[in-house]
Amino acid sequence: MDLKSQLTPILAVTACVGIALLIVSLFRAPANHMTLPLFDEVAPEGEANGGKSLLDGVVTLPSPDHAGNLPVEAALAARRSVRAYSEGPLHLDEISQLLWSAAGINCTETGYRTAPSAGATFPLELYLVVGDVVSLSSGLYHYETEGHRLRKVSSGELRTDLYAAALQQAPIRDAPALLILSAVYERTTRRYGRRGIQYVHMEAGHAAQNVYLQAVSLGLGTVVIGAFDEERVLKIMGTSSDETPLYIMPIGRL
Ligand SMILES: Cc1cc2nc3c(=O)[nH]c(=O)nc-3n(C[C@H](O)[C@H](O)[C@H](O)COP(=O)(O)O)c2cc1C
Repeated sequence: MDLKSQLTPILAVTACVGIALLIVSLFRAPANHMTLPLFDEVAPEGEANGGKSLLDGVVTLPSPDHAGNLPVEAALAARRSVRAYSEGPLHLDEISQLLWSAAGINCTETGYRTAPSAGATFPLELYLVVGDVVSLSSGLYHYETEGHRLRKVSSGELRTDLYAAALQQAPIRDAPALLILSAVYERTTRRYGRRGIQYVHMEAGHAAQNVYLQAVSLGLGTVVIGAFDEERVLKIMGTSSDETPLYIMPIGRL
């Protein structure tokens, strides 16, 4: 490798760290819930939502906050699995923040993410199940890291079926939204062989912990749910059979 090719990734990472430090150093007041997200495509479904149309298709999420208001130590001190939630919908800026914390890009030059990934093979896919989120119609959405947007996969109430597929664990039925972390093992095992399977599980842990801490910072509650029938969950999701769902994370208000 010549000197230029060796230096390029180092310069890119240095640039990202510099930009991140600059952003963190700027104080940002807590964002009010954004009511006007950007949409690439809007195909209202005609469902009732306080008289407003719900959004569908591809939804560009509000930009994630890179500063926050809670020190990481405070989030660590408060982190707990939360399995009961108060009434009330989630907002799109909260969804944006949670998805970004799990699998969002934090360096546009490299495409690297908030959670580490073995060899940057990025085996995880992230889904959002919407039950009660302001502006979003119910259904399953796929999180597209590039572009920080959601793409609707299917419509309808999925929580009841997922609840049944997960030993009837109440948080899945009750939470206004669920995150599903799913893995495509091949992306990582192709490079690392059998060890890649372990790497994928480690990565799911990193992403899930980020969601826990982000939830604390937003005043929300979550729990990692690993006890479910993975084939049933995959069938309910109706996504590629190359994927294996690893975690369901209900998200709700405290
Ligand atoms: C791999 C794994 C699977 C888990 N599966 C479930 C689950 O199916 N249902 C559940 O309620 N909690 C589940 N949990 C959460 C644990 O029960 C929880 O972390 C533990 O009770 C400690 O509580 P804390 O998270 O509040 O510290 C799981 C945790 C891990 C790490």
